[in-house]
This record gives sequence, C-alpha cells and structure tokens, in this order.
Amino acid sequence: MRPFVRHYDTLFADKDYDSDVVTLATLTGAGATSRVLELGAGTGSHSHRLGRFCREVVSVEIDADFHSACAARLQAADSRNVTLYATPVEELPETGFDVAAAFFHVLNYIPPAARAGFVGAIGERLVAGGRFLADLWHAEAVERDPPREETRTKRAGGVRLLQRISPRYVPGGAEVELDYSFEVEAPGRPVERFDERLRLHLWTRPALEATFRAAGFSHIEFRDWRDSRRAAGSVSWRVWLYARKS
Ligand SMILES: C[S@@+](CC[C@H](N)C(=O)[O-])C[C@H]1O[C@@H](n2cnc3c(N)ncnc32)[C@H](O)[C@@H]1O
Repeated sequence: MRPFVRHYDTLFADKDYDSDVVTLATLTGAGATSRVLELGAGTGSHSHRLGRFCREVVSVEIDADFHSACAARLQAADSRNVTLYATPVEELPETGFDVAAAFFHVLNYIPPAARAGFVGAIGERLVAGGRFLADLWHAEAVERDPPREETRTKRAGGVRLLQRISPRYVPGGAEVELDYSFEVEAPGRPVERFDERLRLHLWTRPALEATFRAAGFSHIEFRDWRDSRRAAGSVSWRVWLYARKS
C-alpha cells in the first residue's frame, strides 16, 4: 500500500466526517430506509458511518490501495450492510438507489472526457426522484483565488505528519496539479518521506448543471460548503452540489 494511503487517516484526522453525513441526511433525506450509493470511498470514513444510519450502502473505490484500506476499515467496523466494489460505477451491477453521494472532491477526480459517462451511470442507478450530493472545488472561485504553496502539520495517535503542498494552477485550463511532499515522525521509527501528486479537474456551475441535466436530473442547486443552508456564490471555493432525478 502506498504511504499516502497508509497515512491518509492521519492527514485527515481533523476532518468532520460526521458533519458530512448529517448534511447528506439534511439535504437528501437519507435515513434508516435508504439504499445509498457512495462514489470514491477512500479509506471508508464515510462508508461505515453511512452503514450505521442507512438500510444498505454500496461503496465504489477504484484505487486498489484505497480499496484495500476501505475493506479493512469496514471489516474492523463490522459494517455488514456496506458492500464495497472496485468496479467503476459505469460497470456497477447494482441499481435502485434512493441516494448517491460523492464526498470530498471525488467529482474533481473525474477528467472532462469521463464526466458524462460517470454522471450518466449515477443517474441510471438512482430510482425516480433519487437524490445526489457531492462537495467539490468550484472552478469560478478557484480561478479568482488559486491555491498557494503551504505547509500543514497534523498530529494523531503520537504520529506527526508534515505536508508541503505545491499547487500548479493552469489558468483557464480548469485543472490544478497538487504536488504533496510528506514527512512522518512516529515514536521509535525513522522519519518516513514520500510524495504524492493529485490532478484535480475543475467544473464550473454551468458545466455541472448541463452534465446533470443530460443525465436526467431536473432539480440542481449549489450550496456553500461551509454553510449548506446558504446558496453558493462566485467566491464559494468549495460547494455542495445537490441534484434530484426526475
Ligand atoms: C479525496 S478522496 C475522498 C475519499 C473519501 N470520500 C473521503 O472523504 O475521505 C477521492 C477518492 O475518490 C476516488 N476516486 C476517484 N475517481 C473515482 C471513480 N471514478 N470512481 C470511484 N472512486 C474514484 C479516489 O481513488 C479517492 O479515494
């Protein structure tokens, strides 16, 4: 397993996963009777939480390392109503979902050429009236205020993780390349150093709207990520996309 995935939960130990699940319940009505499709499960931090309050969860994670980490997490949490697939959603042999969710920028991982297929596959797997929720970087706001170099330090369970972030924003290119370089200090171990590169694809609201409408979603709205009761504005760097299928 590559070190980025091994240390992912330390890196995001301060992320409020519970609040994402509450936002899903509030905006989509997901609850005890819901069958939920999760796209991009990562290490399973949302997956096992969703399993605790929904009837059934099907999670998709196509990265082999994240898939292994998620499988281990679900087993440790005894999440028997969560089924994990490595299969891309376009080939997923499951349908009839009440709600679908793509938490933490998963939509930004989807390159433009794959967008229609990805969103179309979600639409096909939702029941009529099914709902979709995702949080993602918003192209318009990122263009106004591109990401900068920064260093973050995280601590969890005696581990100290230093993350240097070097972003490369392609103006007008709708893409941000993030070069991460890490140093991990853990008691009794030599310092571990490794790199990871992420490529994020930015969507404008009109592009999202057109793609979701073409996939059969009739109601589409954007909320500010920090306060999901507020409509997103042009400076909302991260947004919630909420869409309802006809
Ligand atoms: C930033 S991580 C978020 C993981 C998790 N949702 C969380 O909040 O910790 C994005 C995840 O989406 C996964 N991913 C990217 N493209 C995907 C796709 N087409 N289908 C399923 N998963 C995908 C990546 O492998 C990665 O694990």
